[in-house]
Amino acid sequence: MTKTCEIICKTLDDTAALASRFAKFIENDGCFVSLYGEIGAGKTAFVKKVADAIGITEKVTSPSFVILNEYHSAKIPVYHFDLYRLENEGVKTIFDELQEYSEGRQITFVEWAEFSQNQIPFDHIKINVTYEDDDSRKYSFEGFGEKCEDIIEGLNQ
Ligand SMILES: Nc1ncnc2c1ncn2[C@@H]1O[C@H](COP(=O)(O)OP(=O)(O)OP(=O)(O)O)[C@@H](O)[C@H]1O
Ligand SMILES: [Mg+2]
Repeated sequence: MTKTCEIICKTLDDTAALASRFAKFIENDGCFVSLYGEIGAGKTAFVKKVADAIGITEKVTSPSFVILNEYHSAKIPVYHFDLYRLENEGVKTIFDELQEYSEGRQITFVEWAEFSQNQIPFDHIKINVTYEDDDSRKYSFEGFGEKCEDIIEGLNQ
């Protein structure tokens, strides 16, 4: 089964189209999604586009300073973490709690989970964002666990 999918988005509109396609797979049952990539790569931009696609009406902002933003205007709750400010020590204290956000019907996005040296020990989708040039970005998806692998399979079609 295909577990990975790589898509080049040449413009922010392409990223919006990808996010909207991805949103269809997760808007009903939820998913835990960790996003990797350097500062300014396009992690939050992707989350914002997914939020638009699933009908979130609140303004979606980067949680860099508050660690967690939550939104309750879509069909299921959306949690958006940015662990950057916690750095290595702080992430240890929150990492176990993240597990709770992987259970049940909700969408959880986590930026900067790499501050934890641990592998994420539950089903999730990993998205790696790389800067290509100007407005071009590469989004690489990888699914862990059966449900997440199926989503990647769907994205590949
Ligand atoms: N094709 C594209 N896809 C995504 N973002 C793009 C694209 N083209 C341009 N951008 C711009 O790149 C920037 C990406 O910033 P964003 O806040 O998403 O980065 P980030 O990866 O979340 O960084 P940080 O680690 O600081 O949170 C935004 O200003 C966005 O408008
Ligand atoms: Mg961000």
